[in-house]
Parts: sequence; structure tokens; C-alpha cells
Amino acid sequence: MSVKSPAQRHTELESKIARWNEAYHGQDNPEVSDAIYDQARLELVMLERQHPELKRKDGPSAQIGAAPNPAFGKVTHRAPMLSLDNVFNEEEFAQFISRIGRFLGLNDQTTDSLRFVAEPKIDGLSINLTYEKGQLTAATTRGDGTIGEDVTANINTIASIPKTLPAPYPELIEIRGEIFMSRADFLALNQRQEERKDRPFANPRNAAAGSLRQLDPSITAQRSLGLFAYGMGYSTDLPATSHTAWLETLKNWGFTVNPLSKSISHASDVPAYVEQLAQQRPDLDYDIDGIVFKIDEIDLQKRLGFVGRAPRWAIAWKFPAEQAITRLLEIEIQVGRTGALTPVAHLEPINVGGVIVSRATLHNEDEIKRLDARPGDLVKIQRAGDVIPQILSVVNAERADRAAPFIFPDHCPACHAHAERVADEAVRRCTGGLTCPAQTVERLIHFVSRKAFDIDGLGDKSIRNFYELNYIRRPGDIFRLHTSKEQLQKLEGWGPQSVEKLLRAIDERRTISLPRFIYALGIRRIGERNAQLLARHYHSFATWRAAMLAAIQPESEERTTLSAIMGIGPAIAEELAAFFSEEHNVDTLDDLTAHLTIPDEENATSDPNAPAPLSGQIMVFTGSLSTMSRPEAKAIAERLGAQVTDSVSRRTTLVVLGEKAGSKAKKAEELGIRTLDESSWREMAGLS
Ligand code: IVH
Repeated sequence: MSVKSPAQRHTELESKIARWNEAYHGQDNPEVSDAIYDQARLELVMLERQHPELKRKDGPSAQIGAAPNPAFGKVTHRAPMLSLDNVFNEEEFAQFISRIGRFLGLNDQTTDSLRFVAEPKIDGLSINLTYEKGQLTAATTRGDGTIGEDVTANINTIASIPKTLPAPYPELIEIRGEIFMSRADFLALNQRQEERKDRPFANPRNAAAGSLRQLDPSITAQRSLGLFAYGMGYSTDLPATSHTAWLETLKNWGFTVNPLSKSISHASDVPAYVEQLAQQRPDLDYDIDGIVFKIDEIDLQKRLGFVGRAPRWAIAWKFPAEQAITRLLEIEIQVGRTGALTPVAHLEPINVGGVIVSRATLHNEDEIKRLDARPGDLVKIQRAGDVIPQILSVVNAERADRAAPFIFPDHCPACHAHAERVADEAVRRCTGGLTCPAQTVERLIHFVSRKAFDIDGLGDKSIRNFYELNYIRRPGDIFRLHTSKEQLQKLEGWGPQSVEKLLRAIDERRTISLPRFIYALGIRRIGERNAQLLARHYHSFATWRAAMLAAIQPESEERTTLSAIMGIGPAIAEELAAFFSEEHNVDTLDDLTAHLTIPDEENATSDPNAPAPLSGQIMVFTGSLSTMSRPEAKAIAERLGAQVTDSVSRRTTLVVLGEKAGSKAKKAEELGIRTLDESSWREMAGLS
């Protein structure tokens, strides 16, 4: 294997993480385990630390969650809903503590006596509850951290969530917590799903997410959901000065606070608490995937603030994944929408940490080779929180009666076309394109899926059925289905009413938003977020189509523009060009749009990037400040929109002088740059 340059590795990690983000948040259907995800993220962050020039403002290291589902009302959070950084062991936790100490300018002893609150990290989905004058007025999911989905009607069906607060309470306050489903309720729900021939949920988190994000609140009402409250978003008053007191307030207001939450008065007591909770974990009636440690004093939380997507004042200590041993029955090769051949392991069903597992991902050809997994083997599997389990190793590889090594097919199991491996990629892809029924069917399934055309009554099964019977061969056919109405009514499982209902659902989708439309096409690497970026940039379908056709030429101006869209980049631009350079794709597209109305995208009404008070300032801090450390000063300035650099140059616009400011103060004076002393700086930053 060739050695990759940091830039190449960076691009590779970014695109993997973006894809995994989309699968996890966008489809509620994770592609890899948390452990693999965290490892890739960590590598990305480390790489960016060594090569800051690679970091992009909108790159995956700066992103959380996924764009909200357009079917729900969108709500911009008053205070962003952020994420947490992770540690996995004592050493990493110690680094977290010393980072805080350095930031606050504390000595080692004072650092060790920082007070923390430890809370189980609930494996559910976070929610923001807004109370105005003590009344619950809105509930929103995290969404992409900035804009969430309005799920008020659904939250109103959960009895354990207070709808009013007893006085006194702030004029407006946002309460944050985790919505979850207990393991017992999850198992009962899955049993009901099976009885009704509905697809079971993979785990309690997915079940909770699926139950809350229902367009019909009466379905949410039938599911047992709980809430553990743990945080505060925006508030007109500060109801507590410590997290401990805040949790007490929450309890007094009628919220459930996790009973295992604990106050910790020395950082050195932390490992013992982690050990204790890890022991209790299998016996809990809900899934937890770690422990969150939060600085108790709210003033200190405020000073520490945030870096990128996560607070400096809190950290998640993640547990290792849960493991078990079972038998590998069979390796099945599935063909995806983009032709990727994906091996799936069928396992003898086994209970892993409360969830019955009968399948595991094998990722790709290399992974099977690396494991040397063969049907009949006993394998060690791992389930990390909320994902498809993985095979870690074969445990009885020595036995004599083993099956022959697994040979990965070089032909597509669905259409028998050659399956080729592109250099530098781990996947083998079917070259059958549109002639491959598996790819075509998967694309159609994607086309009607929830985040795409979202056509009620047209699920995986009916798509497969209609495809085989020749009613639906390409997306445009869906909108011509009414011409076969009478034949459809005679099909097994269908009748006049259900066909009528389906045709109505199809008619409802003859008008579709541009981002949904682009996403529905299923172009490689164009998930929800990228579809949105394209729609926002090109505004109308006609402009987008024309630009994509022009961008087929690598040297064209349109290709340059496309690659330069924030978040798109050259690799994704190439995928779009590849899609549009295939004539049959453009045909299929035009055949489809003849049936549709695609309204233009409005310009964004509120600008989330409105200028911050210090935006445009290039600042230097020099000398020692008496009320804050240099990193804290830098963080405050950056939060207000300034860029902070180390040395004074002609570009510098502002220099803050602490005690014993030396050569930099002199240089600022020579260049005629504005200087401030510490107290004027505090005033400027709104601190005094
Ligand atoms: S505090 C600004 N506390 O973990 C920090 N989060 O990985 C906000 N979570 O988005 C998070 N239990 O959905 C916090 N006791 C707890 C939690 C918790 C679960 C989730 C939450 C958050 C995610 C971050």
C-alpha cells in the first residue's frame, strides 16, 4: 500500500465521517460502530492539530448531527445544541483535567480539587424543551445543532414530562435532556412490530428516535418514552449557580433526573466512579454508553466556554463496547444502490447487552480476508451502543473441520456483471449499472424513502414487487402508475382502496422541494446535507441542471464554481459530473421532472452568520493578564468573532497589553496599531 500524504488522508477521513454522519443522523441507521467512528474522528482532529491548514470551517470535525427532516417544522435553537468530546481511559481524562487547569490558570492542587458532577450518558436522543411563563410551548430535536425539528405535539403525549412548572421560574427557560426507551419497553415494542410484520428496531435508541420523530403524534403516544433531564439551554435568568443545584431545581419542577448522578469533589475520584457504573451497566433498564463529567460551578462553565462543537467544561468517558461469541452461519453478498457489494454475516441469534443480534457487518472483501471468517466459525462480535454489530475475530480457527476460505465473488450476485475494484477503494462494485436489477431496485427504494420523496404505501416490498411486474422500472414510472390503476387493484395484497390511497400519496408528492429532489436521485456522496448545499447555491432546478451539465468538463468555469461551494469540494464535484455525463441518467431525470413541480429555493431569511462584535479584528495578546489565562482570552476574542494571531504585523488591528508587554507592544506602537490595557479589553468583551 502506498503511503498517503496528510492531505489525502484528511480528505479520506472527511468523506468517510461525512458518510457515517449521514447514515447515523440522517437515516437513523448507523453504518459503523461508535468505536470506529470515534477513532476516525480522533484521527481527523489530531491530523488537523498537526496541519491546521487542512481544517475547514464546515468540515465534519466542526459538525454535529444532520440536517433536520423537512417534514417537521424547523426551529432555530436559541442556544446551539452541542456535542461532547470523548475520552476512553484515565490518561485521556487526566489530559482533559489539565487542559481545564491551564485554561483557567490554576496550579495542580487547585486543579485536582475542581468539583464535578458525574451523570450516566444516556443512549437516546437529545431534546430541547422551551417553557414560557412556566408553560411548555415548544419541543425540538437537536437536528444539526443549530436548527432542529419541531416535535412539540409528540412530546405532549409523554406523561412524565411536566407541561407546567411550579413557580418561581424564569420568564423563558429551555430545559435539555435525553429521550430514551427502556430495554423492557424496547423488547415489547419489537415483539409487537414482529406480530404486525413491521420491521423491528435495531436497538432502544433507534426505537426512541423512530417513536419520537413520528408525523402522527398518536403513534408516539402508544410508545413508552422517558426523559432524563440534565441541562439548560437559553434562559432569561440563571436559576442556579451550580450544576448540582440545577439538578435539584429540575427535580423540584417535576423532571426525572438520573438517580445515579453524583457529585465528585476530586478529579482523582473519577476512575472509581467509572468502574462502579461499568459494573452496574448490564443491570440497568436503559442503555448507557458512558459517563458525562461536568464542572459543577456554572461561573467556571461560562469561563471555559466551548471549542468547536463541544464544551471545554464537560467530557464523555465512553465505555468499551459489549461483546459476545456466536456462530457465523452464512456470508451473504448484498448489492447496494451504487453497486457496492457488501458482505453481511448471518449469525446464530445471541443476546448482547440486552439486544438480540442475528446479523453483523463484514464491511468488505479485505475485512473478510483479514478476519479469515468462514461459515461455521465461532466469532467474537461486538455491539457498540446503537449500531450494526461487528465481527472482531474468529475464536476457533484452529479446528480441523473448517470450511474452505471464503472467496469473495468477482461477479455481481444479482446481474452477473463483472464486479470490479477501483484502485485505492476497499469496495468491489458491480459494473452492471442500470441493467443490474439490484442496483435499480435499491435506487428506487432510496427514491421513495422518508427523506426523499417519502411516498406512503410504497415501501421496499411494494417497490420490489412493482419492479418485477414491470410497473416501476424508473422513477418517472411512479408518476404514471395511475394509468395502470385497474391492473394494480387486482394484484395480491392490493384492492381498490389501498390503490386509491397509494395514488393519492403519489399525487401529494408531485410538488417537491429542490433539496429533497436532489437527494432522492441517489447520486453517490450526495446525502441530505450536500443536496441542501447544492439547492441553496443554485436556487432552481433548471439552473442546477444546466450548471451540472456544464460542469461535466473538468476545466469548465462551472466545475470550478461547483468545487468551490463550501462543503462540496472537488471529489463530490466529480461524482456529480460523473452522474450527469451518463446520458441515461439525464434521460431518467428529464422523464421524471416532466411530472413534477420543483419550487425555487428561497434565499435564507435569517443569516446565522451575522457579524459578531469583533468580526474582522485581527488581535494579538501580549504580556501576562491578571484576570484570565492567555488561552481563555483567545477563546473569548474568537467567540466574539476576532482572529487571534501570535505576532504583530501590518494586518494586526488590535493589541491587548498585559503586564510586562515587551517587543510586541513596541512594534504595535511603531506600526500605529490600536492598543488596549486589560481593563479596557474586559470592557470591550463585555466582562466588566
Ligand atoms: S450534556 C453541551 N449530559 O450525549 C453538552 N449529554 O455526545 C451537552 N447525552 O448531545 C450534553 N446523556 O444527546 C449531556 N447526562 C448527559 C447526557 C448527554 C446523554 C447525549 C446528548 C448529547 C450527546 C453528546
